[in-house]
Amino acid sequence: MDIKKLMSQMTIEEKIGQCVQLIPSFLDENQKCELTGPFHISNFDEKYIYNCGSLIGVSDAKSARELQAKYLERNRLKIPLIFMADVVHGSSTIFPTPLAISSSFNPENAKVCAKVSAKESAIQGNHLTFAPMSDLARDARWGRNMETSGEDPYLNTLFTKAYVEGFQGDDLKDEHTLASCVKHFAGYGLVQAGREYNTVDVSERFLREYHFPAYKAGIDAGASMVMTAFNTINSIPATANSWLFRDVLRDEMKFDGVVISDWGAVLEAINHQVAEDRYEAAVKAMNAGCDMEMMTSCYTSSLRLAIENGDVDMKCLDEAVYHILSLKDKLGLFENPYRFADEGLEKSVVMCDEFKEASRHVANECPVLLKNEDKILPLENDDFVLTGPFADSNDLLGPWSWKGDVSQVTTIADAFDKKVMKDINEVMSSSQETVVYVAGEKSDESGEAHSKVDISLPEIDVQNIIQLKESGKKVVLVLINGRPMTLSNVIDHCDALLVAWQLGTMAGNVIADILTGKVNPSGKLTMSFPRHVGQCPIFYNDYQTGRPASKAVDHYVSKYIDCENDALFGFGEGLNYSHITIDKIEFDSFELNDEMKVKVHLSNKGVTGTEVVQLYINDLSADVIRPLKELKAFERVMVQDSEIVEFTLTKEMMAYYNHKNECKYDKGKVEIMIGLSSNEVQTFTIEIK
Ligand code: GLC
Repeated sequence: MDIKKLMSQMTIEEKIGQCVQLIPSFLDENQKCELTGPFHISNFDEKYIYNCGSLIGVSDAKSARELQAKYLERNRLKIPLIFMADVVHGSSTIFPTPLAISSSFNPENAKVCAKVSAKESAIQGNHLTFAPMSDLARDARWGRNMETSGEDPYLNTLFTKAYVEGFQGDDLKDEHTLASCVKHFAGYGLVQAGREYNTVDVSERFLREYHFPAYKAGIDAGASMVMTAFNTINSIPATANSWLFRDVLRDEMKFDGVVISDWGAVLEAINHQVAEDRYEAAVKAMNAGCDMEMMTSCYTSSLRLAIENGDVDMKCLDEAVYHILSLKDKLGLFENPYRFADEGLEKSVVMCDEFKEASRHVANECPVLLKNEDKILPLENDDFVLTGPFADSNDLLGPWSWKGDVSQVTTIADAFDKKVMKDINEVMSSSQETVVYVAGEKSDESGEAHSKVDISLPEIDVQNIIQLKESGKKVVLVLINGRPMTLSNVIDHCDALLVAWQLGTMAGNVIADILTGKVNPSGKLTMSFPRHVGQCPIFYNDYQTGRPASKAVDHYVSKYIDCENDALFGFGEGLNYSHITIDKIEFDSFELNDEMKVKVHLSNKGVTGTEVVQLYINDLSADVIRPLKELKAFERVMVQDSEIVEFTLTKEMMAYYNHKNECKYDKGKVEIMIGLSSNEVQTFTIEIK
């Protein structure tokens, strides 16, 4: 399609119309869709309805075809709509939440989830997904942790890249691909106090060091869209922040796709008190480089006047429209406005066994075993009691699973084909010694707009677990959770702890397979589990401070007087049913010139299993403070008897943003730490030459 030629035929209203996204009910009030934000559109100018650029949340192939056909009948230049939706960890076949998938330390799992999601969603009529979420998460109180790939920037870049590649494939004109939208630019995970939509106050250096790399990885992987964050950066709402979108995203990161606001974020400049009205909100957002406005009417009510007044340059509007029409062209919508929407295929492909198997395979690698006293797991037989609020619950899909069908979810009780003992007194008086207690969070206790100040288990579950232990039972706690939770009040009363997350459609089967040993757990935490919510935000890649707490010095040091500093369970932690150890670590040199090889020798005295060998660095003296540990490499390796994992270290891996915001490495000493968890490492010192 000759976009420039098409634009030369467009009126200013038609151009402005392309820059707004609506829900389907504006075209057909019988269309239902998931509202994912407050409804702020009143007296919307009807002339923009059949000039709008996009619809959000079209539900199925039939609706997609009907809406597109109705729109094209009425659109003068026959410019097709682009349909977008939140396909975050599955469309109808639900995969584990992204935080769970990151716990596999296997980016291939993200790619599989994205590929299956893209195929299902494209057949259901969708063209673009608002995923991956590449925000770095560090505060367990925040509801959207479940949507992230955890607290480490390196891991976050790898998973973001994998999701984008999985969604988009090699060519968006190819069968069953989805355009991908990296979000939320930028730094949304830093909301103060873990409170949703709260202010973010962060240095440019921290943004560049910890937050920008993942968004950049998504853009370098070819992401078609970037979504603005609700929060402020440098005291300016992201959606109105031209440093963020023009200087950084466009000029530095070379992003040439579409920028879309988050739901209502253009209008919210008024709430942020940086705009008096829709006119000023429209001017600030368009001048900042926000191409498309999601579900508010600042652009349609004000942009024409703003351009006539010279407050917005026509060039800005033309750039926005060019980005939007180019994306539609990339998707092949001008040739085929219906793309892959297919009602017949929808019935045969959506939720097919192949996709459920793919979800199960990914889920097998996500649960994290954090405690297993006297190897109580795997369960030797069926002689155990199954109880707890989630033992027979199908609420295992997690947030952002609006097309998932909970009736299709296998519960844990189903998977064991076992009756759940509900009455705690009956459990206590039962003859079985072992109790599997399944507790945690409902899907609507995390996700967007679900921050919490209390991230512990419900008191009834804590009391039940304590009573069971005191009555002489062996207690296996299975946690169903979206976010990290505080478990200090129960962990000493559990013989085993399996963090099972929200694993999606196949959750029950996977949990049963792990508890019985059919699957050997291999997950590792990618987000710290605090001892107490008062420690939040808490993360492994923290700094030493000028007064580090230590066993030797206990006063006038950086510590709490009522809680340890470290997490209850830390980044990279996770057990398995094997007995894998690191026996030897060999460096080919301790001086790093061009590159250095490190060999890690592993052996296994137990059943075959998978470990994640992790390599961290600590820059002992730098231009700015450096974290005590930074993950720079890892390898997931299956070990039957013995294996050797080899890492290659380069100077580039040691680079960081200095006080001038230049990304450089220093010469000098760096500690290299290698282990199977961030808090159990062997440390070596090398010299960067
Ligand atoms: C929501 C979320 C964003 C989502 C969008 C559309 O408010 O912040 O992640 O993609 O609205 O549903």
